Amino acid sequence: MNPLLDLLHPYPFERLRVLLEGARPPEGLRPLNLGIGEPQHPTPPVIADSLVQNLHLLGKYPPTAGTVELRSAISEWIGRRYAIPCPDPIDQVIPVAGTREALFALAQAVLDPAERAAVLLPNPFYQIYEGAALLAGAEPVYVPTPKEQGYLPDWGAVSAEIWPRVKLAFVCSPGNPTGAVMTLEDWKRVFELADRYGFVVAADECYSEIYNGDPPCGSLQASIALGRGLERVVSLNSLSKRSSAPGLRSGFAAGDADIIKPFLLYRTYHGAAPSSLTQVASVEAWQDETHVVENREKYREKFRIAAELFGPGLQIPSGGFFLWLPVPNDEQQARRLFEQAWVTTLPGTYLGREVNGKNPGQGYLRVALVPDLDVCREALIRIRETLETPTIG
Ligand SMILES: Cc1ncc(COP(=O)(O)O)c(C=O)c1O
Repeated sequence: MNPLLDLLHPYPFERLRVLLEGARPPEGLRPLNLGIGEPQHPTPPVIADSLVQNLHLLGKYPPTAGTVELRSAISEWIGRRYAIPCPDPIDQVIPVAGTREALFALAQAVLDPAERAAVLLPNPFYQIYEGAALLAGAEPVYVPTPKEQGYLPDWGAVSAEIWPRVKLAFVCSPGNPTGAVMTLEDWKRVFELADRYGFVVAADECYSEIYNGDPPCGSLQASIALGRGLERVVSLNSLSKRSSAPGLRSGFAAGDADIIKPFLLYRTYHGAAPSSLTQVASVEAWQDETHVVENREKYREKFRIAAELFGPGLQIPSGGFFLWLPVPNDEQQARRLFEQAWVTTLPGTYLGREVNGKNPGQGYLRVALVPDLDVCREALIRIRETLETPTIG
């Protein structure tokens, strides 16, 4: 077997399962799961109807490059969303089977296995970045995202010897788990570093449409605004969160044509093109914004309720659908919440890596506000009550 497989870390949910082993939740309460970040709002009819009407497409192999209609719909969406010239639908856009797949595949296409490249990733982070780097034979370099930096990467923490070896940097805005959003200034800093050291920026923007204030500034938008074209940047996004369709497995990679072209070649072999059926439904989804506004409003309502219940001390994230709740001992509190209130949350420790004796995820619980409003309200009340009660023993 590929020895690099041995380097992969257990997935956070595997660690959660171990933590909760033997825990006995109270009788008489319904279980409430805010652990996994799977969107649960109903998928809008615009997608479901299209799938039903196009079942005959199951008899067709999908084009890896995507249909022209889909590439154009994505390109036009990017142009509208970010108020920039539409990227070239043929040279700068490819549909992918969700952000996760594309994040992983992009690393395999970008990195040269013969050189031990360094790959930057935020810490805490979405674990696919790390696995993608490790399986490409690269070294993941964990960049802390401390509270004092607004939970954005502290690039100053990367040592001088590392920079020349950096070939790829994953950035996530809005971020999972913290919900931090990068401003134009933050993008400027990343692109300055990318241009100085010649690395690719993989911008994971799958939460771009779930936000509490203004629409987040996107990587492509920032790159154009900074007058540097789309060089060395690839934006990855999907319909999973935007359109509450995580099972559709549909997204895109868009950006630098010099990366997209070899990435397409890689993908011919990788074989992860969204099905023809999915491609048709995705055209409709990217062209419709009404359901996206409604979807976003549902998350905003949950954050309003959280703010009401927890008061002004609670930090409401700029984007995404997670609360990043400071707690004294996250593993202990996650188990306690499960045992005493039958609410599942995820310890931040499982989303971070310890570097220099410090795991920046430690001391936080990630609470995914993905179930419907009533479940979220009830779960938040139980969380508040449990955390307010001192731990015994
Ligand atoms: C930060 C981040 N990136 C990517 C993904 C993958 O999303 P998808 O593959 O459904 O687009 C997720 C999903 O949970 C995520 O949290």
